[in-house]
Amino acid sequence: MKKVLVISGSPRKGDSYRVVKLIEKKIHDLGDVEFEYLMLRKCNIEYCRGCLTCMKKGEDRCPLKDDIQMIRDKMLNADGVIFTSPVYVHTATASIKNLFDRMAYYLHRPCFHNKYALTITTTELSGLKETLHYLAFPIKSMGFNLVGEIGVVASAFNEPGPYQDVVMANIDRATKDLYQGMIIQKPINP
Ligand SMILES: Cc1cc2nc3c(=O)[nH]c(=O)nc-3n(C[C@H](O)[C@H](O)[C@H](O)COP(=O)(O)O)c2cc1C
Repeated sequence: MKKVLVISGSPRKGDSYRVVKLIEKKIHDLGDVEFEYLMLRKCNIEYCRGCLTCMKKGEDRCPLKDDIQMIRDKMLNADGVIFTSPVYVHTATASIKNLFDRMAYYLHRPCFHNKYALTITTTELSGLKETLHYLAFPIKSMGFNLVGEIGVVASAFNEPGPYQDVVMANIDRATKDLYQGMIIQKPINP
């Protein structure tokens, strides 16, 4: 059975959680896929100390012993990873940024080439483009095949109408691409 790991940068089960739950429901119509949710707010991830030991000597030599190794292992064990973050001050949340800082080693030695990723961001009004753009760089640099980027203005999405239809079409497309990527293992990033 294929496994999807959801990494949530939101401190709550709110708008972005609702979007990922829609994807989980849709993917179950396509086949058997196991979902696991990892809420970064519940994880112990210290700030990078900037020693560069991970780059020079290997990530196992990082002096910080916290949840980052557990998260890395969950990512390695998954076939797909969905990264979610609300827009906070026109970009992703600090917990997502902190995760990428601590995994910067993998931007230099990417190891997720056979894995498929989606990004989801939700907002009150602004910052969708900036946040999706921000998320894409580390995810692609770590080797993931980024098959879909979903940006949602939460209040507009909650009302039936043309905006909801457009977002739902994007969610449908991204869900199918994630599922097919995991099944067919077709590389997408060069
Ligand atoms: C600290 C903070 C900063 C935010 N910054 C922005 C922003 O720059 N632009 C915006 O339109 N909404 C902003 N919002 C609103 C959230 O992006 C929005 O409510 C989002 O849908 C919440 O998603 P969640 O329920 O998954 O956490 C901010 C909210 C908080 C709490």
